[in-house]
Amino acid sequence: MTIRYDGKVAIVTGAGQGLGRCHAIELAKRGAKVVVNDLGGAKDGTGASSEAALSVVAEIEAAGGEAIANGANVAKYADVEAMVKQAVDKWGRVDILVNNAGILRDKSFAKGSLEDFQLVLDVHLMGTINCTKACWDIMREQEYGRIVVTTSSSGLYGNFGQTNYGAAKMGVIGAMNTLVQEGAKYNIRVNALAPTAGTRMTEGLLPEKAFDLLTPETVTPAVLYLAGEDAPTRTILCAGAGGFSVSKIVETESVWLSPEEQTPEGIAAHWDEINNAAGARELQGGFEQSVKMLTVAAAGLGIKLD
Ligand code: NAI
Repeated sequence: MTIRYDGKVAIVTGAGQGLGRCHAIELAKRGAKVVVNDLGGAKDGTGASSEAALSVVAEIEAAGGEAIANGANVAKYADVEAMVKQAVDKWGRVDILVNNAGILRDKSFAKGSLEDFQLVLDVHLMGTINCTKACWDIMREQEYGRIVVTTSSSGLYGNFGQTNYGAAKMGVIGAMNTLVQEGAKYNIRVNALAPTAGTRMTEGLLPEKAFDLLTPETVTPAVLYLAGEDAPTRTILCAGAGGFSVSKIVETESVWLSPEEQTPEGIAAHWDEINNAAGARELQGGFEQSVKMLTVAAAGLGIKLD
């Protein structure tokens, strides 16, 4: 079955180039009306221009699609509110939000400034929160919403020189995990994309051959899937060069230690067992961890919990 978005309104942030541009063009090709947002600054977040967003809108229109350009800085809530109002005034709803805008201020933690750290958090994490907040009530009222946050392997696994970026990119996963729970009864599904692509952001970091394979076009199908009617929820979908995988946060089985062994030495003695990935599983909410710990404690102590 072809996945289409006829009658749906989508906002794609940072859609003036790179991955966002490709997401916006493909959503429009499949029937969505698209807000092409882009601040139009440099890779480090300095400057602004409406040129890139306007040229993507022109591309969409030339292909017979519908789109409007928007120059909001996602880090500024007033800008974001005006962007969402622009979409609602024009098309009456917002069904899909792809939080994609981003910048880099790479430096080792020792050399990086707190100002850069804050700016990267403001664009990636607060940008995602601002856009989600501005769409949330609309999606709740219409009982439909598909939100994609953009994470990164740098946040999930770490990358030298990217403490600020990694913190922001893992932050969006933390937000997603709870948004999923709060949005479920309103048919709002929230998922994350972990892309790898040759764009301005990764220019000079990849050999040319790899750059040629890692096109944005190979990543966008993942966003299209996550933005669809039958999207999953709470999934971290990784995509690049035609490869797709799912990243999961799992927890090992809990090992109950007797009161005498509930010491750092006891943990050291049982480390291989505690750190054993066999039997590790995803938890569906924070509360499940408490239940897990209490269950093994009750078994260990020979008591019954109601
Ligand atoms: P890009 O630099 O080509 O595009 C990012 C766009 O966001 C730019 O057009 C920029 O003007 C816009 N933008 C930046 N700050 C903004 C703001 N405050 N408000 C509105 N727009 C703003 O980068 P690329 O590679 O397309 O990245 C897209 C997303 O994917 C980013 O969130 C990035 O962190 C993420 N990502 C990319 C990877 C890659 O391999 N290219 C890897 C992992 C994550």
